[in-house]
Formats: sequence, C-alpha cells, structure tokens
Amino acid sequence: MNRRNFIRSSCTACLSVSALPILISGCASLTNTTGKLVNDGLMLNLEDFKLNEKGSSAYRSFLIVRNEKLKYPVCIYRFSDTEFSALWMNCTHQGAELQASGEYLQCPAHGSEFNNMGVVTSGPADTNLRTFPVTVNGKDIFIDLRKQS
Ligand code: FES
Repeated sequence: MNRRNFIRSSCTACLSVSALPILISGCASLTNTTGKLVNDGLMLNLEDFKLNEKGSSAYRSFLIVRNEKLKYPVCIYRFSDTEFSALWMNCTHQGAELQASGEYLQCPAHGSEFNNMGVVTSGPADTNLRTFPVTVNGKDIFIDLRKQS
C-alpha cells in the first residue's frame, strides 16, 4: 500500500468511526417515544408512527415507548391503522431488557428472540412475552397495562 492509499483508507476509517454515534442516535430517536401514562395504560397517537420525511405518508413498523414509571419499555408494532401488538420488553428467560431489531425482539443476555407478536422464536427463553390489549379510537391508541392480551 502506498502512502496515498494509506491516508485515504485511514481517513475513511476515521470518518466512519466518528459518524457512527450520530447515525446510531439518529436511528434511536426514530423509534423511541415517551408514552403518556393515563388510567393504567399508555396513550399514543397514530401520528407518532408517521415518518417525518417530507411529503411521505409512510409509517414506522414499530415504536418503543418508554415512561419513567415503567420498569421496562413497551414495543408497539403497527400492522395497519387498526391492528397493533404491544409487547413488554422484558425477557422471559431471566428478565433482561430486550432490544428491537426490525420485526424481532432480541435479548442481549443469552440470545433469545421473539417475533412481533411476542412469540418465542429462539431460546433459551421458553415462554412468550407479556402482551397488552391495544384499543384504537380514531387517532388515539390506548395500551391497557392492567390486562394481558
Ligand atoms: S435473559 Fe434473555 S435469554 Fe436469558
């Protein structure tokens, strides 16, 4: 490798490393929201799923809802304007907080995986996730945290 190629590849590597945190935080803000806690449940708006791209009417497939009063976040998957699933992001194996990866929730502790309906697709967990009923009223989405769906 000559000097020019060495400098070029080094600069590319440095730029990649320095841009990574910006990209990661950008992605995180796309899927995280703070739910409003009301009447033993979380309240969201359908608009929370909308991508903020100019002129786009596209929706995110899921949102992670965090609230300081909840021990774990709730992942809400959107299948249509009226169909959702709400999953408690608490691994049923040993209680680690799950991470959303597209249509799956993965456990960073021992690798269990759950689909967007909370069903175990890969162990060691052998119990499905806790899920909550979701009610849609116009643009309001209510996740009832008292019940299990
Ligand atoms: S705590 Fe999640 S797989 Fe063990």
